[in-house]
Amino acid sequence: MLIPMILSGGSGTRLWPVSRRNLPKQFLSLSGNGTLFQQTIARTRLLPDVGAPIVVASEDHRFLAADQLLEAGVEGAAIVLEPVARNTAPAIALGALKALERDPQALLLVLPADHLIGDTENFTDAVRQALPAARDGWLVTFGIRPDRPETGFGYIRRAESIGDNAFRVEQFVEKPDQATAQSYLEHGGYDWNSGMFLFKAARYLEELGQHAPEMLAAVRAAYATGRGDLDFVRVDKDAFAKVPDNSIDYAVMEKTARAAVIPVSCAWSDIGSWSALWLSGKHDKQGNQREGDTLTVNTRNSLLRSHDRHVIATVGVDDLIVVSTPDATLVAHRDAAQDVKKVVDQLKASG
Ligand code: GDD
Ligand code: MG
Repeated sequence: MLIPMILSGGSGTRLWPVSRRNLPKQFLSLSGNGTLFQQTIARTRLLPDVGAPIVVASEDHRFLAADQLLEAGVEGAAIVLEPVARNTAPAIALGALKALERDPQALLLVLPADHLIGDTENFTDAVRQALPAARDGWLVTFGIRPDRPETGFGYIRRAESIGDNAFRVEQFVEKPDQATAQSYLEHGGYDWNSGMFLFKAARYLEELGQHAPEMLAAVRAAYATGRGDLDFVRVDKDAFAKVPDNSIDYAVMEKTARAAVIPVSCAWSDIGSWSALWLSGKHDKQGNQREGDTLTVNTRNSLLRSHDRHVIATVGVDDLIVVSTPDATLVAHRDAAQDVKKVVDQLKASG
């Protein structure tokens, strides 16, 4: 059985002031129909032999996740709750343990809840192409062709073909520095890691056991002493707090000898920041992307979103981000969109 595992634990601070601690970006409707979380689950419904999803999310967001599943008419989902965030390697291990209870042969399709995919058909074709390699024990990634030296992504170097549009991975490098990213772009032959994975749940745990045995042991202990209520699967808080913090990319993908990549062209974007949202969306003739009550005079290549009844008016400016909500307004240069998280850090520090 193919089980979608939705990673919904992020906090989305770079999309402040719309994304907040109590309502992070994956649970918001930023583009398209439904929230990013709901769109992620909807895309999996077209896959063959697909089971109900396993959602792994922060305990703080349990009702958001449950309500949004209900609203989307998804039945039988399991919601695994993390009492503290320990990054993606442990989160996926929790999902894998849950999946194995349903089916010892379970194939886990790991999907971040905060990505946009414009071409669902190509995405589902790529997952189909990945199935044979995953059944053979490969940890399959989905590769996106890079168009800029982005340092926020993992880079995958392709080796020989191992099947229909499937390749062995020669090297996986998580978040290289600027010069390295630039050299990969010039070299060609590298894909971005999309952050989506397909593998047997049992294989993932096996690899984690090889490369991060103390993490696997700590996750198993927290899972074993947890308990369930309603639709929620709870893990033990004190035990989970002892789990080392690391991502799947560093803990497993950089180390495994059994990684494969399926190149996919599906209009993918990781909506990490306001500038990423601007890049992925539609623009008017002046290159502006607008939402809500906005008015522009001599304004170009800007993102303007009014999430309240205020009119945003801009005159004679380029490359701006203006986002207004009832209690906060952001004005930023498009090139500085990554630094919006520093605003959130300052707000946190000032209580
Ligand atoms: N449940 C849970 N728990 N989810 C988490 C946690 C956690 O502790 N931490 C992160 N996530 C979720 C995020 O919400 C996101 O959906 C996904 O896991 C990936 O985490 P990010 O923090 O967004 O990772 P990244 O964007 O820096 O890097 C990853 O994605 C890139 C593509 O977008 C890596 O896989 C890169 O290699 C990849 O290129
Ligand atoms: Mg991300």
